[in-house]
Amino acid sequence: MMKKYKWSVAGLSAILSVGLLAGCGAEGDGPAEVEAPAEEPTEEVNEDATSGEGGTLIMATSADYPPYESVDLESGEIVGFDIDIANHIASELGYELDIQDVDFNGLIPAMEAGRADFVLAGMTPTEERMENVDFSDIYYEAQNLIVSKEDQGLSAVEDLEGLTVGVQLGSIQEGEAEDLAEEIGFNVEKRDRIPELIQELLAGRLDAILMEDTVAAGYMESQSGLAQFEVPSEELAGSAIAFPKGSELVEPFNDKLNEMIDSGLMDELIIKWFDAEE
Ligand code: ARG
Repeated sequence: MMKKYKWSVAGLSAILSVGLLAGCGAEGDGPAEVEAPAEEPTEEVNEDATSGEGGTLIMATSADYPPYESVDLESGEIVGFDIDIANHIASELGYELDIQDVDFNGLIPAMEAGRADFVLAGMTPTEERMENVDFSDIYYEAQNLIVSKEDQGLSAVEDLEGLTVGVQLGSIQEGEAEDLAEEIGFNVEKRDRIPELIQELLAGRLDAILMEDTVAAGYMESQSGLAQFEVPSEELAGSAIAFPKGSELVEPFNDKLNEMIDSGLMDELIIKWFDAEE
């Protein structure tokens, strides 16, 4: 199908600063939409982030985003492209991994509250987010599109006029939909999780969803009667790993990401998770 991934590792690392300051987050209370104020880091966690001598890293993700991350119905485990990347890097650096499922909109607050050491959730490194977190290099790039029911006959953004378009709360798709809505004139509805959007589309409460092509692909295959068209946009929905500002994990994670790219392991994972559904 569509995949035209490309790497922009060199480009982005030139822009992104590598934090070398503080240590990492603290052990949290488990999965949570975090509203609590930042906690003091506890002693046992990640004192020794760069040496990789044991310890557990807490990764927060929003497991509603197959093939990046979703809950496997049989095992109940969170699986996906991002999970394989995280497991590989953590084990290479000598850490155990504890994966927490948090609504996408709560991921950065969770990290800011010291409840996660990093976020791996198909998250795009936007300038706005960079004010609050540090990002790794981009490891995958995708594009946004509109998904709707085939019988609606929608084929261009102009057709959305007067309709209701769903997006994930806190995502770049939310911002893009709001910009488009100003131009074209439609309502934007926000939901915490992608499956809610799909259900509401199927139930006719939403006319369309603005989402990422790679994630849409799985739903296009599993649900009949859906159609899609591309949103003209210069911006790609690249994915990178997010860390608390100043985290000393950024550099070792980038090294490992680049090793994965050079060794071909990243390509293998891309074929495993993205080509599998085409
Ligand atoms: N790439 C988009 C963003 O950063 C959407 C990511 C959504 N990820 C998820 N796990 N639901 O805003």
